[in-house]
Amino acid sequence: MGLYEKYIFPKMAHLVCSMKPFPRQREKVVPIARGVVLEVGVGSGLNLPYYDGNKVTKVWCLDPSPEMLRMAEKAAKSLPLKVEFIGSPGEEIPLEDNSVDTVVVTYTLCTIADTEQALRQMARVLKPGGELIFCEHGAAPDEDIRCWQERINPVWKLLAGGCHLNRPIPKLIEQGGFRIKGMEAMYIPGWRPASFNYCGMATHA
Ligand SMILES: C[S@@+](CC[C@H](N)C(=O)[O-])C[C@H]1O[C@@H](n2cnc3c(N)ncnc32)[C@H](O)[C@@H]1O
Repeated sequence: MGLYEKYIFPKMAHLVCSMKPFPRQREKVVPIARGVVLEVGVGSGLNLPYYDGNKVTKVWCLDPSPEMLRMAEKAAKSLPLKVEFIGSPGEEIPLEDNSVDTVVVTYTLCTIADTEQALRQMARVLKPGGELIFCEHGAAPDEDIRCWQERINPVWKLLAGGCHLNRPIPKLIEQGGFRIKGMEAMYIPGWRPASFNYCGMATHA
């Protein structure tokens, strides 16, 4: 891992993910989580304040980046939540089958290298009847914006820690073994190639 990925990118990701439209999106989905939760790609812990402590018994916070996990640990300190940290990628979740009630993934499916493997791992650890809660940016429905997403993507990936602008999020979730139960898809304020959001819930297919 280079110096940029280790020292600069984590702080940059935290700043960008803290920007104005994101709290509104987090507020829509994170409070739905209940029981034992696994958050995949917890990052700097920006979702943690949105968990409802009356419904959530524990949050497993998974991220492969030690720098991100350190920031998340700091964020969790002042919160009335039981949390545990896992330094692994989503493709290798070290939890038992059928052991969590909710999986949460926000602004992370854009970055995971093997999304199908990671989503199949999420499906494996999720109990029957459990929910995957997601909020992600991805492929825009408008031809002109999608063209820009394709053009910019190769450079963007290098600057943004492997983030892809153009991933077809609902299709990936379905290919990973889930059925989408409800979803809101819309542009949120911001730079349009990175601002088409897919927010919703899915269960085992
Ligand atoms: C843009 S940040 C989003 C963080 C957080 N989910 C949020 O909403 O603020 C993307 C996160 O995905 C993590 N990540 C990268 N590759 C991953 C993988 N293979 N599995 C799980 N997380 C990964 C990064 O370390 C980073 O913390």
